[in-house]
Amino acid sequence: MAKFLIKHSSPLKGEIKIGGSKNAVLPVLAASILTEGDCVIQDVPYLSDVLTMEKLLESLGVRVSWDKDAGAVTVSAAGKLRAEASYELVSKMRASFLVMGPLLARLGEVKAPLPGGCAIGSRPVDLHLKGFSAMGADIIQEHGFVRAKARKLKGARVYLDFPSVGATENLMMAAVLAEDQTILENCAVEPEVVDLANFLNSAGADIRGAGTDTIKINGVRELRGTEHAIIPDRIEAGTFMVAAAITRGDITLTNVLGDHLKPVTAKLKEVHLNVMETERGIRVQCSDRKKIVAADVKTLPYPGFPTDMQAQFMSLLTTAEGASIVTETVFENRFMHVGELKRMGADIKIESRSAIVEGVKSLTGAQVKATDLRAGAALVLAAMTASGETEISDIYHIDRGYCQLDEKLNQLGAKIQRVE
Ligand code: UD1
Repeated sequence: MAKFLIKHSSPLKGEIKIGGSKNAVLPVLAASILTEGDCVIQDVPYLSDVLTMEKLLESLGVRVSWDKDAGAVTVSAAGKLRAEASYELVSKMRASFLVMGPLLARLGEVKAPLPGGCAIGSRPVDLHLKGFSAMGADIIQEHGFVRAKARKLKGARVYLDFPSVGATENLMMAAVLAEDQTILENCAVEPEVVDLANFLNSAGADIRGAGTDTIKINGVRELRGTEHAIIPDRIEAGTFMVAAAITRGDITLTNVLGDHLKPVTAKLKEVHLNVMETERGIRVQCSDRKKIVAADVKTLPYPGFPTDMQAQFMSLLTTAEGASIVTETVFENRFMHVGELKRMGADIKIESRSAIVEGVKSLTGAQVKATDLRAGAALVLAAMTASGETEISDIYHIDRGYCQLDEKLNQLGAKIQRVE
């Protein structure tokens, strides 16, 4: 299995282009099932999670073709589709469960495996299923699969107990072809939800309020093919911002939306980084003081600090001046990186949902393992500041959500070798 060998890096310098958002493109690809027309999707990042979604769509009878140079994908879901998602693909990537809403809306029935837990928590799908049920679907769970059936979904008022991103997206996709109006309350307001709504509206859906906690969807008879460009990946951008900070560098990110990065930018400023919007994009620069200071971080649904940036930010705090408290409120078990960072000399204690990070003078290279996608990115960042060499195994997790992270960081001056 592939590994990274990473040596201590001098301050990163230069400009880097951020790719399209992984978490926005996965639901948009799933939503393409809702129309028989061709959907041309631009700014699609070439990632293994995107390839898994492509395989899943193909297994359902959907045609997917890439124009890799242009970073565009054409999805054609014309003709007869299968109503069953395979266990192999859903267990590989939880976001595969997002085909459930569109298949139910289009075919009136769907069978999909329950995704089960993963490295960061138990991650149930009860909110998705309650919503389908409120819209008139019969739900049966048996042998690890869930079946949903509804000759025609009916608009309903659905209050989500937690503003789940996946549930909001799945229910929004189910509702676009339902009879009458659906109102989703306490729903997620993440930029990826807004991007999905924009895609669906461009295909003829009638969705209002995406980006607020109440979304109203008036069902339409059918959707048509469309063209859509995916928003830039705010988590990839945030990861590069921390890379600049941890190496005390000076880099400019292009293809970014400053608004989506506000919670991360605010924290970087708090630990004494200069973050400036320039004509080219966003410039992150170590301040003259050179010293990063401690800060408390609490993850929350958007526009709070993103849970998907918690591990990377913790790497930065391991060598900050003073003690920081990092509290994870979105997932119950998202501290798998702590044990690995401690192997590199970090001083971290976990107490319930918080990690107390006492800044140390420096980290040291060690053999460590990427336990999930963002935990893996956190180790890459830590390794760039550690003395000596760090070996990171199981980097397939990192490739799920970062397009050539090693090559992009090397362009800025990092020393990362991929060993197959
Ligand atoms: C999405 C993102 C993921 C990010 C997360 C939170 C994608 C493909 N993935 O995941 O990168 O970390 O949002 O920003 O977009 N929950 C329930 N019942 C449900 C659904 C969720 O209890 O039916 C809980 C989860 O266990 C978790 C919390 O709600 O504790 C948030 O999950 P959710 O927002 O649904 O995350 P995902 O959509 O899975």
